[in-house]
Amino acid sequence: MSEIEDMNQTQKILILDFGSQVTQLIARRVREAGVYCEIHPFNNFDEAQIRAFDPKGVVLSGGPASVTGSDTPRAPEVVFALGVPVLGICYGQQTMVAQMGGQVETHDHQEFGRADVEVTEPCGLFEGVWQRGDSARVWMSHGDRVTKLPEGFRIVGRSDGAPFAAIANDEKRMYGVQFHPEVVHTPDGARLLSNFVHVVCGCSGDWTMAAFKQDAIQRIREQVGPDGRVICGLSGGVDSSVAAVLIHEAIGERLTCILVDHGLMRQGEAEQVVTLFRDHYNIPLVHRDASDLFLGRLDGVDDPEKKRKIIGGLFIDVFEEEAKKVGGADFLAQGTLYPDVIESVSFAGGPSVTIKSHHNVGGLPDRMNMKLVEPLRELFKDEVRVLGRELGLPQALIGRHPFPGPGLAIRIPGPVTREACDILRKADAIYLEEIRNAGLYDAIWQAFAVLLPVRTVGVMGDARTYDHVLALRAVTSTDGMTADSYPFPHDFLSRCATRIINQVRGVNRVVYDVTSKPPGTIEWE
Ligand code: XMP
Repeated sequence: MSEIEDMNQTQKILILDFGSQVTQLIARRVREAGVYCEIHPFNNFDEAQIRAFDPKGVVLSGGPASVTGSDTPRAPEVVFALGVPVLGICYGQQTMVAQMGGQVETHDHQEFGRADVEVTEPCGLFEGVWQRGDSARVWMSHGDRVTKLPEGFRIVGRSDGAPFAAIANDEKRMYGVQFHPEVVHTPDGARLLSNFVHVVCGCSGDWTMAAFKQDAIQRIREQVGPDGRVICGLSGGVDSSVAAVLIHEAIGERLTCILVDHGLMRQGEAEQVVTLFRDHYNIPLVHRDASDLFLGRLDGVDDPEKKRKIIGGLFIDVFEEEAKKVGGADFLAQGTLYPDVIESVSFAGGPSVTIKSHHNVGGLPDRMNMKLVEPLRELFKDEVRVLGRELGLPQALIGRHPFPGPGLAIRIPGPVTREACDILRKADAIYLEEIRNAGLYDAIWQAFAVLLPVRTVGVMGDARTYDHVLALRAVTSTDGMTADSYPFPHDFLSRCATRIINQVRGVNRVVYDVTSKPPGTIEWE
């Protein structure tokens, strides 16, 4: 069901997902236009749910299938019967055309990447953006194309590979584009989507973070009730911190935060969290140093997945113990985000390959008999940051790079020791300090050091050294799904290497990782 059933007065756009890699971007663009929206799989949101959702408009996403194949995805018919505007993007356009009585064919002239659309007619989507006669840069990715329009539709834009690149039926308020307006490679795309939700669907754009915050506080109060108690695991990351502060605004002292220090955190991290929450916000916080327990159990373990399982399991044990000590709780707060909630559309049918099991505390509620409070489950990461600002959290915390749950354990290939963690912490702190000093921190998605189980020979002050290699990694990314290595100037890297080798005993060589994702991953394990 809808994530915000009780926000009925909110104007909502429904995005039906046909499995495109970029469906989430449609949602982001719609929300940037100040309109709430949700993504649901085309085949798992039935007529009753669609009617109950009561959308002001519907967007049909792109997808990998071909409308010309047998038994390929179709939009639920109710979408075209609701009387609200519909925008079909790529596959969404093709299925709309096919379902409304037009024709789609597979064509030799496929278009992938940049293309130019010639605007042939004005239409609501283009208002204030494109004029008749304009040539506009867009991003295409399609093999099939529309070859015959259904009745009532007209062409409003065409390209070399797609004579029906943009189509409109003004009476029914149905629109279709063969290109992808949601990606940044279609420079005017965000304005076209904004036109769809404002000009065509008539949404007012009043979905602001201030409104969301008030609403979220109200919903937390209703869910937790007048006496309910909530516990929240704090990691020092943005999501759990924002969730904690929001819940604290809603229910005050009935929230207790628990920080389990597994000995795998970065330099000064646990102390910063304690200072911020206990001293600054006055939020009850239990700080448990469980480093002996975690490092003891990790002794001799070198397999990355085993490390993750041990850390995940121990985290639950310690959390449970600490929760009992504070008298238990009825609710567990989690900083779950919208991308974790969106159900993905799978055409292959089989399970996808697990590259890494990114641990979360999903096992907790069952074991602890608690209900979940997940106040961020409708938000994207960048929206959580905006909410954090709205709540007055310091920029240093809001802008923090993501840090994995298993912490330094997956940045020390091979067995993890306390000594290795200490070396890595020092080197990592120097690297991050240099990045901050160079004013580059916010331009980077994630930057960190990796301590390699490789020793090399060096010479320092006429003496031979035989110490570890440290790899530096920095990537740019928008969602962690794909990433590029950050192109530091050479002198920056040399400066980091010199400082680290001079100041961190145990490291005598520094290398920089220039691998993108794919084929690499961001973390080394
Ligand atoms: P990869 O290494 O898969 O990382 O490219 C993508 C993002 O996920 C983070 N990551 C994790 N986060 N538990 C977490 O909570 C994990 O086990 C884990 N492994 C990777 C990684 O830091 C990056 O932001």
